[in-house]
Amino acid sequence: MKIENKKWSLEKFNQIREEVLKQWPTGQDVDLEEAIEYQKNIEPKKRVTAKLKEAKESGITLIQPRAGVALIDKHIELLRFLQDEGKADILPTTIDSYTRQNNYEDAEAGIKESREEKRSMLNGFPAVNHGVQGCREVVEALASPLQVRHGTPDARLLAEITLAGGFTDFEGGGISYNIPYAKEVSIERTIYDWQYVDRLVGLYEENGISINREPFGPLTGTLVPPSVSHTVALVEGLLAAEQGVKNLTLGYGQCGNLVQDVAALESLRELAAEYFADFKDIMLTTVFHQWMGGFPQDEAQAFAVISWGASTAALGNATKVITKTTHEALGIPTKEANAEGLKASKQVINMLRDQSLASNDKLEKEKEMIKKETKQIMDHVLELGKGDLAQGVVKAFKAGVIDIPFAPSRFNAGKILPARDNEGAVRYLDHGNLPFTEEIVKFHQKKLEDRGKDEGREASFQMVIDDIYAVGQGELVGRPKKNKKEENSCK
Ligand code: 5AD
Repeated sequence: MKIENKKWSLEKFNQIREEVLKQWPTGQDVDLEEAIEYQKNIEPKKRVTAKLKEAKESGITLIQPRAGVALIDKHIELLRFLQDEGKADILPTTIDSYTRQNNYEDAEAGIKESREEKRSMLNGFPAVNHGVQGCREVVEALASPLQVRHGTPDARLLAEITLAGGFTDFEGGGISYNIPYAKEVSIERTIYDWQYVDRLVGLYEENGISINREPFGPLTGTLVPPSVSHTVALVEGLLAAEQGVKNLTLGYGQCGNLVQDVAALESLRELAAEYFADFKDIMLTTVFHQWMGGFPQDEAQAFAVISWGASTAALGNATKVITKTTHEALGIPTKEANAEGLKASKQVINMLRDQSLASNDKLEKEKEMIKKETKQIMDHVLELGKGDLAQGVVKAFKAGVIDIPFAPSRFNAGKILPARDNEGAVRYLDHGNLPFTEEIVKFHQKKLEDRGKDEGREASFQMVIDDIYAVGQGELVGRPKKNKKEENSCK
């Protein structure tokens, strides 16, 4: 399979489309012309793009939860609660795991069982099975705009059905919904399948319908260095823009060190302005994900993690924040817990509305390093592809030039190792084959050596493990136990 970063011809798209719509019977109900007419009648306040534009212009941070259950009426009830009680600005529809794997038979069985058991037997909303009309029922029952959130390597049919169903925002991308989610799906395959999704969104745009696209920023969710996730966000955004996407929300997942996180959000905006300079009529916004790693079980502690995420999103001026809940360590939240996560976040965001982190040397240095690292990776990717971004990405994954920590995919090199420095910023303990200059490599080494000295141990894999568990255990940096006791005894 040979892929290239070139806008698909309508002929190519339509040829593949025929097969896509046959994947499940509900595909036959998608009529693009009718869907465009339907979308035209959706009022602006129910479009994600309009909400994002308004937020960007007024400098506020919108809040959005995750949520999805098996049955249409229960899903509407859940989203209404999050809209009215939680005051969510943008509503989600989280798709169940069977649908994410294109296993519509088991999703169908899950719907049936949910009816029988009178509770959701799926971990999300099976939008393909419910079909275009089912999605429209949901969209029409709510006053706020809706986004599809999932984790699907091949999301072509899901996109067809949900966009025809009135959703105005679609999350994911050929890297971010493959490498962290699948083991056996090649990067060529997912880039190709996501070019289809983006071409579909491009078709809506050509017909005057604005649909937002959002690459999934946090990737594997734990200790992902900003330059890794920025590279993926830029790559997926550029591939999407080539297919005609005009509204992009680039994402970043909270690492936990305030200065680094604010620097990441600011540098993401600045990098995007540079990399998308050739696409004149594109709207770029950002989304910040509250902590995506392990959570404390204790609800009060979990609220602290949620609030710290909301603070960072506000101070970093993200356009949107995806909220967590105090049930995070346990599984899918109740609607009440979900609304509480929203309310706690909104309180912090409102209180910080008029504040920002003043420019300072530390912040500027972080921004400079993130930008340098990202540019070094991006340059190398383009070089590998001899100017073609899609080909470059495939080669970059093979060579470990793009490398995502802790990913299950066998198409990912898995050579890099991140760990926190003495202030909790995420650094490269091992940069694997990332094409960094000596300056960058030394910067990271020094930061980790400094932490090692303070903890009386070498910077090693043990630090990585300690850091993965730290937040769940009530801290940010995973310090050795011995050290903690000494600290306590001095107080
Ligand atoms: N409802 C609410 N939250 C969900 N998540 C996954 N599925 C659902 C759902 N159906 C959340 C997880 C985790 C994140 C990756 O998505 O709890 O926070």
